[in-house]
Amino acid sequence: MSNLKYQSPKGVHDILPDDHLYFSFIKKVVRHHCRRAGFRRISTPIFENVEVFKRSIGESSDIVEKEMFVFESKSGKRFALKPESTAGVVRAYLEHGMSNLPKPVELYYIEPHFRYNRPQKGRYRQFHQFGFEVLGEADPAIDAQVIYIAHRINQDLGIADRLSLQLNTIGSSDDRKQFREDLVNYYTGKERSLCEDCRRRMHGNPMRLLDCKEEDCQILASMAPKLESVLSEDSQEHFKLLQEYLNELGLKYELNSTLVRGLDYYSHTVFEFWSKHEGAQNATGGGGRYNGLVEAMGGEDTPAVGYAAGIERTISYMKEAGIRPPNKDKVDIFVAQLGLVAKKKSLSLINSLRDIGINTVGAIGKSSMKGQMGLADKLNAKYSLILGQVEVKEGTIILRNMERGSQEIVPFEGIVEKMGELLGGRKLSSKKLWEE
Ligand code: HAM
Repeated sequence: MSNLKYQSPKGVHDILPDDHLYFSFIKKVVRHHCRRAGFRRISTPIFENVEVFKRSIGESSDIVEKEMFVFESKSGKRFALKPESTAGVVRAYLEHGMSNLPKPVELYYIEPHFRYNRPQKGRYRQFHQFGFEVLGEADPAIDAQVIYIAHRINQDLGIADRLSLQLNTIGSSDDRKQFREDLVNYYTGKERSLCEDCRRRMHGNPMRLLDCKEEDCQILASMAPKLESVLSEDSQEHFKLLQEYLNELGLKYELNSTLVRGLDYYSHTVFEFWSKHEGAQNATGGGGRYNGLVEAMGGEDTPAVGYAAGIERTISYMKEAGIRPPNKDKVDIFVAQLGLVAKKKSLSLINSLRDIGINTVGAIGKSSMKGQMGLADKLNAKYSLILGQVEVKEGTIILRNMERGSQEIVPFEGIVEKMGELLGGRKLSSKKLWEE
């Protein structure tokens, strides 16, 4: 298709109807589990003041350093397309006085995000995440519940068995102060074995060196000092209790001391779901505690924990697992007609069938019966209703079972109710969508 004049920008994809089946299904599962757990949905704007992301995700993170789409308004203000949602959710939490709501405040989102990274499998410039945030509660039981909901969603999407839960603690900010010094001391003199990014980060953000994906950096990271050695008693207790709660919930996890996550706002618990086949490169989702973020953004000291998963990656794992979501786009009935009077009658027939919840298509722009029936075949319709001049005159209609290839002539009157019964008891009703 490279000779086309216009194509979507690099790393940005259309979501075609077949993939929307997956999107819709994932949204349904996410909504179901979030509602069950008392979460309410939030959407923050597609772009925010650039400082919102700098202050939260961190100046020295990859995302802020090189992956944001930043632009300037006509009045010179700098904005960025949102690379993730936690920062915007915290900004909205403060802006709308949600800190006055009963705690914990539980919010979830299903949103597009943007990161300017090198496009490759599972890494795009526009992608979607579903995620949830719990604000106002410090208990490690909440961390366990957040992880459990993420796991239940993975289970209902059919991919839980393909993922391994990686778990670590990065302690409190005080713990990390000491640890950073230990790390800088350890890496000093080894700079030449580090990749360019790590060499640059060594003094600003040395913990990121632990989860670099370059082979040489990984070897050095495996021998680096461990955070465990500087964890305070409180931090150790938090992590110990979290593991006890996860054990109680029957969740399997792997302790991974090199997991630090790429965003600066975390403290204590960090976790990711990795593909058992592809490892860290393509985590479906990740999250953790971010106890200092609300305060850093100008609010009161508010503990918080959250998680987000990539929808495109989730879909690719579902496909690998052979999961096909239910096809709600299927055509139940195709209405074919011949002649002007039949066409007029078929118009209201089509609408009445749709009104009782039957997916109905009619090719009212096509004139030949052969063309219309060819389309009914292509659309894989379950039934066809055929209305010609003879049927109009006799007050009948032809009902064709497309799967069996059999047909019968039935009275036109009562055909809507009959089709409702044939297709699983759908009835004419005055119930409105908003009454569901
Ligand atoms: P994150 O690990 O940066 O965390 O992103 C979460 C997930 O989004 C990743 O595991 C991945 O599946 C997906 N993802 C990230 N970047 C891309 C990309 N370029 N293309 C496709 N998928 C991508 C966060 O965003 C945190 N806000 C999670 C969180 C919520 N922590 C606490 N609350």
